Amino acid sequence: MIKINNLSKIFRQKDTQVTALENITLEIEKGDIFGVIGMSGAGKSTLLRCLSGLEKPTGGTVEINGSRVSLQKGAGLGRQMGVVFQGYNLLMQKTVRQNVALPLEIAGRDKETRRQKVESLLKTVGLADKADCYPSQLSGGQKQRVAIARALANDPQILLCDEPTSALDPMTTGQVLDLLKEINSRLSVTVVIITHELGVVKSICNKVAVISNGRIAETGPARQVLGSPGSNATKLLLEWRV
Ligand SMILES: Nc1ncnc2c1ncn2[C@@H]1O[C@H](COP(=O)(O)OP(=O)(O)OP(=O)(O)O)[C@@H](O)[C@H]1O
Ligand SMILES: [Mg+2]
Repeated sequence: MIKINNLSKIFRQKDTQVTALENITLEIEKGDIFGVIGMSGAGKSTLLRCLSGLEKPTGGTVEINGSRVSLQKGAGLGRQMGVVFQGYNLLMQKTVRQNVALPLEIAGRDKETRRQKVESLLKTVGLADKADCYPSQLSGGQKQRVAIARALANDPQILLCDEPTSALDPMTTGQVLDLLKEINSRLSVTVVIITHELGVVKSICNKVAVISNGRIAETGPARQVLGSPGSNATKLLLEWRV
């Protein structure tokens, strides 16, 4: 469903250049909960931004169901993909309801459709009672749920999540992961989770790619990769339990 072929991204500034991604080749299948794990600075967010069409790769391609992800700004935010950003990115001046309704407004849905859809999304993420609150009135886990509801507004086939639980305590992390699992199984949404936490991969991912210094160190079924790591990058993650 998602085919990443030889993807690379080099950030060039005046006299320096940073190779954030180098020859990334990966396949993510429909129905996967696919984890991308790596240390800080490994290139995880850059990969997600290239997947969603928010960042133009220096080389290589991303295909979704056989068609190339367009490189226009914001292109990935259409029907195929929903994105949950590192740090929520909610609009603080808008209520929960208005935040979730925004992608529906942009997509030109009428008022009644928007009302019904927002109601059902807030029910899905367990926040029906917070519809008229502002983000500042919510806990971290609740904000993350709003971000997930907003990402699901246009019924995407794929949900890309950048560090969805890194700011949350263990119990709230568990609740958000359960929600992602439910979205995967009940709504048949393929989920890609970017994380630096082994626990996240262990608890919900069926497959994993370990990324280190912009390259794929190892990829395969999560149980296999974590159970008998074949790369130093994985061993380091296991050793540090990050
Ligand atoms: N816009 C940019 N301009 C220049 N360099 C960048 C830019 N964005 C990212 N980088 C560099 O690319 C590398 C990968 O960054 P990225 O944000 O993808 O890491 P990450 O794995 O998401 O890290 P973290 O776990 O801390 O979020 C880093 O060295 C970073 O400094
Ligand atoms: Mg990041």
